[in-house]
Formats: sequence, structure tokens, C-alpha cells
Amino acid sequence: MAKKATEKSASRPLEAGEVVVLRDRRERRYRVKLKPGGEYHTHMGPLSHDDLIGHEEGGFVATTKGNKFLVLRPTLTEAVQELPRHSQVIYSKDLGAILMHGDIFPGARVLEIGLGSGATSSALLRAIGQGGSLVTYEVREEVIEGAKRNIAELVADPSNHTVQLRDAYEEGISEQGLDRIVMDVPEPWRLVERAAGALRPGGILLSYLPTVLQVHQLGMALQEERRFQLPETVELLERPWHVTKQSIRPEHRMIAHTGFITTARRCEPAPAWGKPVVETVAVEAVEAEADPLT
Ligand SMILES: C[S@@+](CC[C@H](N)C(=O)[O-])C[C@H]1O[C@@H](n2cnc3c(N)ncnc32)[C@H](O)[C@@H]1O
Repeated sequence: MAKKATEKSASRPLEAGEVVVLRDRRERRYRVKLKPGGEYHTHMGPLSHDDLIGHEEGGFVATTKGNKFLVLRPTLTEAVQELPRHSQVIYSKDLGAILMHGDIFPGARVLEIGLGSGATSSALLRAIGQGGSLVTYEVREEVIEGAKRNIAELVADPSNHTVQLRDAYEEGISEQGLDRIVMDVPEPWRLVERAAGALRPGGILLSYLPTVLQVHQLGMALQEERRFQLPETVELLERPWHVTKQSIRPEHRMIAHTGFITTARRCEPAPAWGKPVVETVAVEAVEAEADPLT
């Protein structure tokens, strides 16, 4: 069986069954799944799959008319953009931020709510590695098979991923002692109390939302649930740049808005803090020591 693009770091030749991306001289992209005996027809002449199989990634191949293409395996960012999708996938800039703000680490026990097309699941699986586990709840049965196919394309061995057909709003969360919960559903505030019950102390709840009204409603629910502390919301803007010898400027187009990432830490219920007690004498002594003029 062909190894997937994401599987190994060592350099190895392209194999039958792999997806590769060809780039012409203008950097236009052509996605090809390699099949022994196959032929890819381009406006610059046909290209034999057999010439690609066994070729090194990062090299150039020529059509029968002599036109050259650069050949590379797709990165996860490229692959996510091209996934067959049943719902809005999370863009790679936000996937990267989810992994960092959610502090997704190798070996983590993660619950994801909202499978969609499986882009987020794939990024989570890559980050937790084989030592971690990912459970994903999804309410729409019809999206599950397609998402699993997408994940199988992007992740070398997704055997530590379980998908459950489940309405999290109605049926709640069964997992306990979780390190992280990642939610991409429209009404995450309905799950805040149950997420607090399922996360271990110090665990992180992360929610991805497209509108500020949703962020506000989630923020209010987090404030009410005393087991969550340190709520934070971030938005990332990614502006691509055009860089050539003659001209360096932002690209004319950028994606203006995708979504907001909100996180909070699962802690003990907040105590009534009371009035701070200040040791006045000790503080003065320290200040006097620190200032050489006194
Ligand atoms: C925007 S999509 C998630 C996209 C996903 N993050 C990705 O990168 O492909 C939201 C998904 O949440 C699912 N969903 C909505 N409400 C849900 C619920 N109560 N329980 C479980 N899944 C739910 C929807 O069916 C949909 O597939």
C-alpha cells in the first residue's frame, strides 16, 4: 500500500496511489493521483504517471512535448484546501492557531465536537500522534463516511480516532478526564457546563466561531460556569505578500474573515477572593533595598 504524503519525514520516491501536485512555470497547480500506466493530459501535452512513479519529490518532469512541471507532495495546508467538503472547513491559519492556543500536545486525550469534513480532526490527529486519542461527535450521519475518507487521505494511521454519531446538545459528553475539548458547532454555550464536567483540572476548552454574537454568548456562559478561568478570544488575519525583484507588496486579495478562537482553562470553582492582605512593612523594606537613592 502506498504511504501517504504525511507519513514519513525521510526522503523517498513517489509511489503509485499517492496524490501529487504538479506546478507549471506560472505556478498553476494540477492535482494527480498516481496510477501505474495512467496518463495525465494537460494543455502542454500528456504526462505519463509511470514517469512520476519512482521520481523524487521536488524534481521536474517533462510532458511528451517537452514542457516541464515541478512535482511535489501536497502539504497538509494544501490538502485541507482541496478536501471534498460537506461543510465549511477551518482554514489552515486557524488550524495552526487551534493547535497552539488549544495547546494540543503529543499523547493528549482530545474530544472534538463537530466533525464536518474532517480537516480539524486531521490536524488534531497529527498533533497528538499515535500516543494520543481523539473522539469526535457528529450529529449528521451523512457526513461521517466522507470525512473518514478525507482523514484517511491526510493522516497516516488514524486508528486512534473514534467517530461517534451523537447530538452533543441533547446527549451530552460521556468522556471523562479529557485534556482538551475542541468545538466547532454553532451553539457551544449549550455545552459549557458538560465540558467542565468532562475536562480534567488544567484542561482546555476551545471553541471556533464565525460571529461576535456567538462569541459573546459563549463568553457569558464561561463567566457563569465558575469552573472555567482565563477566557481568551483571538482572531487571526493572514495577509499574503507578493515578492519579486521589482515589486514587494501585499497580494491584492486576502481572506478578510474566517472565525474567532475562544479558549478557557478548567480549574477549581473560583473562590470568593476577599480583600487582598498587604504586608505593608515587608513591601516598604524591599522597595528601600531596591532603590539605591533611599
Ligand atoms: C462547521 S462543521 C465542522 C467543520 C470541521 N471543523 C472541519 O474542519 O471540517 C460543524 C459540524 O458540527 C456538526 N454539529 C452541529 N451541531 C452538532 C451537535 N449538537 N453535536 C454534534 N455535531 C454537531 C455539524 O453537523 C457539522 O458537521
